[in-house]
Amino acid sequence: MCGIVGYIGNQNAAPILIEGLARLEYRGYDSAGIAVLGARGAQVCRKVGRVRDLEASLPKRLAGKVGIGHTRWATHGPATEDNAHPQTSEDGRISVVHNGIIDNAASLRGRLDAKGVKFTSETDTEVIAHLVARSEASTLEGAVLDVLSRITGTYAIAVLDERHPDRIVVARNGSPLILGVGDHEMFIASDLAALVRHTTSVVHLDDGELATVTASGFRTFSQEQENTEKVPTDVDIDLEDVGLGGYRHYMRKEIIEQPSTIERMLRGRLDERFGSARLDGLNLGPRELRWFRRVKILGCGSAYYASEVGAAMIEELARIPAAAEPASEFRYRNPIIEPDTLYVAVSQSGETADTAFAVQEVKRKGGQIVGLVNVVGSTIARECDGGIYLHAGPEVAVASTKALTHMTIGFAMLALHLGRVRDLSIADGQRIIAGLRDIPGQIQQIITDEPHIAEVADGLAGAPSLFFVGRVRAFPVAREGAQKFKEISYRHAEAYPTSELKHGPLALICESLPTVAILPDDELTDRNLAAIQQIVARQGPLVVVTHPGVSIGDLDVPCITVPKNERELDPILMTIPLQLLAYHAALALGHDIDKPRNLAKSVTVE
Ligand code: BG6
Repeated sequence: MCGIVGYIGNQNAAPILIEGLARLEYRGYDSAGIAVLGARGAQVCRKVGRVRDLEASLPKRLAGKVGIGHTRWATHGPATEDNAHPQTSEDGRISVVHNGIIDNAASLRGRLDAKGVKFTSETDTEVIAHLVARSEASTLEGAVLDVLSRITGTYAIAVLDERHPDRIVVARNGSPLILGVGDHEMFIASDLAALVRHTTSVVHLDDGELATVTASGFRTFSQEQENTEKVPTDVDIDLEDVGLGGYRHYMRKEIIEQPSTIERMLRGRLDERFGSARLDGLNLGPRELRWFRRVKILGCGSAYYASEVGAAMIEELARIPAAAEPASEFRYRNPIIEPDTLYVAVSQSGETADTAFAVQEVKRKGGQIVGLVNVVGSTIARECDGGIYLHAGPEVAVASTKALTHMTIGFAMLALHLGRVRDLSIADGQRIIAGLRDIPGQIQQIITDEPHIAEVADGLAGAPSLFFVGRVRAFPVAREGAQKFKEISYRHAEAYPTSELKHGPLALICESLPTVAILPDDELTDRNLAAIQQIVARQGPLVVVTHPGVSIGDLDVPCITVPKNERELDPILMTIPLQLLAYHAALALGHDIDKPRNLAKSVTVE
């Protein structure tokens, strides 16, 4: 996934583009570039590396009040200056920035090659610049429409033309694109983070929609050239939400702010009297909710692991079969979509292509799908039939923390809601509500233990690979723990059900392979203890994450204690110390915690 920005107005464009790109850098950060239209035409500046490297390389004089910019997560061609965006036409007249993948780029390139067009990059995007420049249409809009009718794939694009310096033409199909409405100026961005410093009045473009953006405003229209009359909406987000707020890293900020963001998420959604949750956004009444025979949950990365926690909660509280599946796999196995299955799509960004396509697959086959999504107005949120917004606020660090916690709390509320329209008693509902109300304070308790957790992390940071183990409710927690370690400490970390160790993985246990064992105080504690003693017996270093009062006997190993909640909700809390463990291990290793190598905040390409 990449980040694109644009500006047209009465201010100098370059600093606005650079600041916008810096705020979108978590979307891709291997190279960046801008194009600014000035008196002498378009000036294009591109640089491998971070936005700050691009900024440092800009010529002193880069005047112009119209411009576009891009920060890249390479899909076609390595991170080189030639492959960075903007991509331009041979004569430099047309500049294009693009987020997405043009599926038929190779064949279009072949045809242009045959016509003698000289390509300077390996990107799929460059074909767009050449095709726009070679279009016979008399207007820029016409030229872009002409090209869109010839390309297939996903895109959010912004196009500049030296012949039409009074406008930027943008188009969207599958990748997010937002317009920001200012006072005699307009802003363009892949997401809100790049806009909020300037305006909170925004327009989300839909798939198949284009817009002409000028200093005085915008016109949105379809590929059939019908006006789509989009009206700006105000978004509830401010600069503080997207700023570091004095923290060294967004990841630590997002871990530490969980108690307050969770309180905000729970506000007005828990109904003590009926022992249930108010989830009006689902657009499903009790009769419809009762009708579902099973629940299928779809997500990618950490959202998939949260989905596994959610499936267990739904089975425990609503007593209906529930299962989670990676959305990226679901779509291509020609799934059997059943009318009495409730499908749930889970995503922080609401833009992950694999999950968005899975939503479309369910809908194409007539299934009912709701979303658990953090970003308001995002693609997945708008495509689902209803949903639960996570209200975690912007999550900037690539490794998801607070959004994951909000997902598991969203599932607890969904399970409660589904349970209370079935056989879950008011008393049990109230028990879960009391547990949910305790979570913010209990997370605060875990956070006060950070210095100890950091110490334990230092001991793990040097290990080339690690195991994370847990059973039943705790297994998805172990999987998320391993995910966090992989993402930011670049250590090979694998998760196993503790009971599975003796059936194979135990062969790997030795002094250089530590294991983090999730050991809740529940019906399996004794069996878990027996299993982890087999690790110690084979000189495997061990870290235990457990509850107060659980005795680990004579095991002299680092122990992290997490406050006890209701057994169904304990996985929510047991994930928090794993977030801090990964953070502090990566800190000890001096890694770029917010922007780990090879990853992006959400991947809007397949
Ligand atoms: C990956 C991110 O790109 O996408 C992960 O690096 C994330 O952190 C996954 O869990 C899914 O993203 P989303 O936005 O759909 O929850």
